[in-house]
Amino acid sequence: MHKCKRAGLEMVETAKRKRKRSKTAVKEEETTNASSPSTYHTFHDPADVVLLRSQLLNWYDKVKRELPWRTMAVTESDANIRTYGVWVSEIMLQQTQVATVIDYYNKWMTRWPTVQDLAGATLEEVNQMWAGLGYYSRGKRLHEGALKVAQELKGQMPCTVDSLLKQLPGVGRYTAAAIGSIALGQVTGVVDGNVIRVLCRMRAIGADSTSPAVTEALWSLANSLVDPERPGDFNQAMMELGARVCTPKGPVCSQCPVQSLCHSYYKVHVKQENNSRKLLAKRDRKLSTLPDIEDCMNSRTCPLCPTEPWDDELGVQNFPRKPAKKPPRVERTLTCVVIRPGEEGEDEYLLTQRPNKGLLAGLWEFPSLVLEEKNTEMKQKQALCAEISRILGTPLTESLLQYVGEVVHIFSHIRQTYAVHSVCLKDGDTQTQTENVQWLTRSALQEAAVSTGVKKIMKLCDSGDSQKEQTSKDGKRQKHAGIKKPQTSKKPKLSAANGSSRQLSLSSFFKTAKQES
Ligand code: ADE
Repeated sequence: MHKCKRAGLEMVETAKRKRKRSKTAVKEEETTNASSPSTYHTFHDPADVVLLRSQLLNWYDKVKRELPWRTMAVTESDANIRTYGVWVSEIMLQQTQVATVIDYYNKWMTRWPTVQDLAGATLEEVNQMWAGLGYYSRGKRLHEGALKVAQELKGQMPCTVDSLLKQLPGVGRYTAAAIGSIALGQVTGVVDGNVIRVLCRMRAIGADSTSPAVTEALWSLANSLVDPERPGDFNQAMMELGARVCTPKGPVCSQCPVQSLCHSYYKVHVKQENNSRKLLAKRDRKLSTLPDIEDCMNSRTCPLCPTEPWDDELGVQNFPRKPAKKPPRVERTLTCVVIRPGEEGEDEYLLTQRPNKGLLAGLWEFPSLVLEEKNTEMKQKQALCAEISRILGTPLTESLLQYVGEVVHIFSHIRQTYAVHSVCLKDGDTQTQTENVQWLTRSALQEAAVSTGVKKIMKLCDSGDSQKEQTSKDGKRQKHAGIKKPQTSKKPKLSAANGSSRQLSLSSFFKTAKQES
């Protein structure tokens, strides 16, 4: 028999069995308090829980990805190091894909293998290591947490879910439960984005998945399902299932180890089956449909049931439901790449440090100003120029700033456009004594604690060059001006390339004078 059909029939049988068994349960459900979830959204049969655990863990044992933090969690005998290692991985994995985290994690653990090692690092070193991973406050919190463990907890990582939650900055309910179960074998469920999706589909929870009622129901469900023998593996298996099979788009139900326990799958299957039976019945003038889909008995008042109707086209993707996302705030920032010839013959870039709090806290960036609505771009350019002049201690007029192009960078809540300008200073009087300002060579900049936005701006400056090369071949108008290189001057006075000098991009800037000419 076709595998899918067999599974479908098994489900129908299970549903029939359950329907018989739960005649009395239905009565109970009808009289349940509307605010308490009906048993339709939980696992009321202990045999189903046993089945779920064993099917999920068997699948996980066969297909799981070998990830460095997983290996560490099973091979490291020191619980303090294990807890620290899993803490690092969980913080890195918040909002970042597994594939991206692996490299960062390996480098981090090589450099700071224990919490004491991390406590001995500076925030600047941590930011440097974190550069490119995004959501920079995470690295800062890890560092703060390590300092706390070293200074206040005698180097001992908290060893219960409760104490992890209370004592480590940046550790919330999910992270504490993940560290507790994976590193310390504590029997607690976890609920992250992947688990929300798996559980909402499995138990047909279609109310807003960010609502308090659904959140509490999911935690309670996760805690009731977690395998007491292998809590860490069970939790990671749930996440793995959400990441690889029960995906947001294009879920692969045919490969799901817990398909037979999934209400959404059953709904989709029965609907499809009934639709085709109806077609045949029309032809044969007789009706034979599968039993009605088992549903929540309190659906009109149930806090976990969807308020919107089922959409056939979405299939299991009817679950979970989230409220519409707020569109990101649109922001425009003027930024200027200031370049000077360095002492070693390598050019240097002016970088300023962002404040210690807020977005991209403590990271280095090119001098920038967020464009305010009330100001024109012209006025803002003057203000940026004044800021650069202040840093350099020498006046600079805005006509020297060359427009290079635009870079768009999306943060979780901001759509940031950088309007990029550049100015190449002649050698000499560009000494900067101000704190939070530094000149870096290009190679140092690549290694520094800079955001992805800065790297994109550098790329734009490079692409200006390639576009220009192309342009000169096909004779069309240039899009990016690239970066203007000043005429070499022996004068030690500060001046900048003026509008008539040759336009060069960063990459051509790095070529030797011979290549250039
Ligand atoms: N996401 C969060 N924690 C994870 C883990 N331990 N393994 C894989 N993905 C995860």
